[in-house]
Amino acid sequence: MIENTIVIESKGVVPKIVSLARREFLKIVCISGAAFSTELVKPIAADIKKEGLAMPYTAKDYSKLIGMDGFSETLLKNHFTLYQGYVTNTNKVLDALEQMLKDGKTGTPEFAELKRRLGWEFNGMRLHEYYFENLGGKGGLDKGGKLAKKLTESFGSYDAWEKDFKATGTMRGIGWVALYQDSLSGRLINFWINEHDVSHPAGCNPILIMDVFEHAFMLDYGLKRADYVEAFFKNIDWKAAEERLK
Ligand SMILES: [Fe+2]
Repeated sequence: MIENTIVIESKGVVPKIVSLARREFLKIVCISGAAFSTELVKPIAADIKKEGLAMPYTAKDYSKLIGMDGFSETLLKNHFTLYQGYVTNTNKVLDALEQMLKDGKTGTPEFAELKRRLGWEFNGMRLHEYYFENLGGKGGLDKGGKLAKKLTESFGSYDAWEKDFKATGTMRGIGWVALYQDSLSGRLINFWINEHDVSHPAGCNPILIMDVFEHAFMLDYGLKRADYVEAFFKNIDWKAAEERLK
């Protein structure tokens, strides 16, 4: 399954939604009709600058990953484009919610649906950043380092952790595998994240993130997800993962 996208065209005085592939968004538009689609996407970037509010998110450049063993250039370029869509849509949803707040439209189904949507878009953006940033590594995990020690403490051994992480990554379904550190106990736990936003543990710190949406591997590996997981492991930037540990 390919991640769904919302494409919002912002040219002209009144921007319009030109492509809605996501079920929830179709639902929203059905609820409120064309009036909503024009209200939703009022450009407020100028207001943000004027009022000194938070700046929009910008997509990061991960082109240095091109050439990574086991990942084709086409797959990576497609994946970067998908990521850029999440950054764009996170900004658009935040802008739309802020405008609705200003306009006194918070008690509406549109506001509620957009609030639900925000976690999906934001996590789609941020999880890709963690994923791309923990790739491109050369060399394995420092077996004497603090991350290896913590993995052994939490799972009994490095091998037990790897077995659990890979098993999670080859589960049926689309989403992410996330090695999280519980901020309170310090314990490391592998989580399955459904799509982008379901099952994140509250207050925990992401250490290692693996994308297992089909777009992350199907072009290169077809249905052989386990082979993609092996390629991912060969390219983990363990230093980046270890630096996230607290
Ligand atoms: Fe992805």
